Amino acid sequence: MRTVRLPSGDEVPALGQGTWYMGEQPQMRAQEVAALRQGLDLGLTLIDTAEMYAEGGAEELVGEAIRGRRDGVFLVSKVYPHNASRKGVAEACERSLRRLGTDYLDLYLLHWRGSIPLSATIEGFEDLKRVGKIRHWGVSNFDTDDMEELAALHSGGNCAINQVLYNVRRRGPEFDLLPWMKTQGIPLMAYSPIEQGRLPGRGALTEIARRHAVTPFQVALAFTLRRPDVIAIPKASDLAHVAANRQALDLQLTDEDLALIDQDFPPPRRKVRLEMI
Ligand SMILES: NC(=O)c1ccc[n+]([C@@H]2O[C@H](COP(=O)([O-])OP(=O)(O)OC[C@H]3O[C@@H](n4cnc5c(N)ncnc54)[C@H](OP(=O)(O)O)[C@@H]3O)[C@@H](O)[C@H]2O)c1
Repeated sequence: MRTVRLPSGDEVPALGQGTWYMGEQPQMRAQEVAALRQGLDLGLTLIDTAEMYAEGGAEELVGEAIRGRRDGVFLVSKVYPHNASRKGVAEACERSLRRLGTDYLDLYLLHWRGSIPLSATIEGFEDLKRVGKIRHWGVSNFDTDDMEELAALHSGGNCAINQVLYNVRRRGPEFDLLPWMKTQGIPLMAYSPIEQGRLPGRGALTEIARRHAVTPFQVALAFTLRRPDVIAIPKASDLAHVAANRQALDLQLTDEDLALIDQDFPPPRRKVRLEMI
């Protein structure tokens, strides 16, 4: 499994698994657990979840999927902005740990910016690190100016990751956010890397897919994964999708492929405000 380096020097898998919308339908539960376990077997050992997903239901499902193999997993969860006070972070983390059936998170993220001062959230994260309940902390949905503000705060330089919307159709971060994060050695974790399945049914992706005998979704995922500083976390409840995503990691797009993608999905020529899904 290819890895991406965090500022601490720790290496994490470049391809992980998302869990949004998992844990919502009881009839899907067994399949979702099986999909996550198959992903683990294939080396997709980074799992991204959040207290928000199915209001704790996704964390419970992840807890079931990783039972007996916690040590082989890089576990990521997120705190709601309204819980992100110093005390609130500690309490929310306890609840997440209980649902996940573990005593530590590998990475804990602020899901998006709310009204609680970032300095209070950082204090909460640093407290949790000190007592070993989280190994790293980071943020999500932070644009370049948010990252600069964060970096200027006490311990703000300890941010390990920024998880944002980045895929072939949402290339805005290439203009300024990715270059800024690169200067700081902070990787980007790309969410919705295949645009929640909403990709055009014709054009560059289809043409490139035909050339490589893969699917347009695999091309889109390979595009997101082409950079050494990007981790992608597609969500797949279908076991065939999990296997396809793993294969996409080995798909090398050629310069010709990338030029074709630039025609259909032009890289940004000016600042584009960070989008959220
Ligand atoms: N921080 C944030 O604010 C934020 C926001 C959004 C998402 N996220 C995280 O990022 C993860 C991924 O994003 P996402 O779930 O929004 O969207 P996504 O991963 O881009 O797309 C998921 C959809 O694509 C389908 N799919 C997966 N692999 C496929 C393949 N190889 N071929 C065809 N279809 C495929 C899935 O179907 P099946 O499930 O049927 O396989 C599902 O419907 C989330 O689950 C969550 O963990 C974070």
